[in-house]
Amino acid sequence: MAPRDDSLGDLFSRHLISKEVQASMVPGYLLRPLQPTDYEKGFLECLGHLTTVGEITKAQFMDRFAYLKQHNYEYFTIVIENVQTSRIAAAGTVMVERKFIHQNGLVGHIEDIVSHPDARGKNLGKAIIDALKHIGASVGCYKIILDCSEKNIPFYVKCGFSKQEYEMVRRSGSCLLLSVPPTHTRHVTDRSGAFLRATLPRSSEGRPALDMRICDAICAYWSHLHL
Ligand SMILES: CC(C)(COP(=O)(O)OP(=O)(O)OC[C@H]1O[C@@H](n2cnc3c(N)ncnc32)[C@H](O)[C@@H]1OP(=O)(O)O)[C@@H](O)C(=O)NCCC(=O)NCCS
Repeated sequence: MAPRDDSLGDLFSRHLISKEVQASMVPGYLLRPLQPTDYEKGFLECLGHLTTVGEITKAQFMDRFAYLKQHNYEYFTIVIENVQTSRIAAAGTVMVERKFIHQNGLVGHIEDIVSHPDARGKNLGKAIIDALKHIGASVGCYKIILDCSEKNIPFYVKCGFSKQEYEMVRRSGSCLLLSVPPTHTRHVTDRSGAFLRATLPRSSEGRPALDMRICDAICAYWSHLHL
């Protein structure tokens, strides 16, 4: 079991954080590696503006953090913190793939780029990308690649990327457990689109009449049957 406290510190060495990128940012924002306390600072909430995150406890967050830290020569997750509010304003990851081709070459894969809606248009997204490019180059990647939706192509072009080749995808049947507002509703879906929507009956006062854990148990049983 991973430590549940915050003693693990930075995910990786701050030497890999570009001073030039930090200096180029609007004042009041700090670029740095992910830290355990980013759980409380809204890291997952920020990621929620990219895609579904689910409900992750601090212990689950720390399990994943500890794994990434053990592999912090290939996983580099960075954040930008609003220093005044202590909230995460932007985040991103570069993952380093070890190849045989190109003389045991290294390729960086940029993933999970997001800036908080409150902080968009301040060049923080671009700062995240520039910082990840710097990390990739520093650890020896011969190229850095990413997938994106069509609407984000202009953003990545501004970050120095160009369109090349096509993305192919085949979804596995793995389960996604989603919670959507109002919180007494759960969605379970497999990646082919089949899903269960479980909504708790409400009491006459309008509150959920059952514990949310019952709803979770129903979802888990459905997943067991269908996935
Ligand atoms: C895409 C995203 C990260 C951009 O973040 P941001 O902090 O608002 O972007 P920046 O302020 O750093 O923009 C940098 C430049 O790109 C431009 N830009 C940003 N988003 C753009 C878009 N969708 N279309 C065209 N240009 C865009 C900005 O105008 C700016 O140009 P400038 O330097 O000429 O002023 C942000 O909109 C976001 O988090 N979206 C939701 C999650 C997402 O789609 N992530 C990407 C997954 S691949």
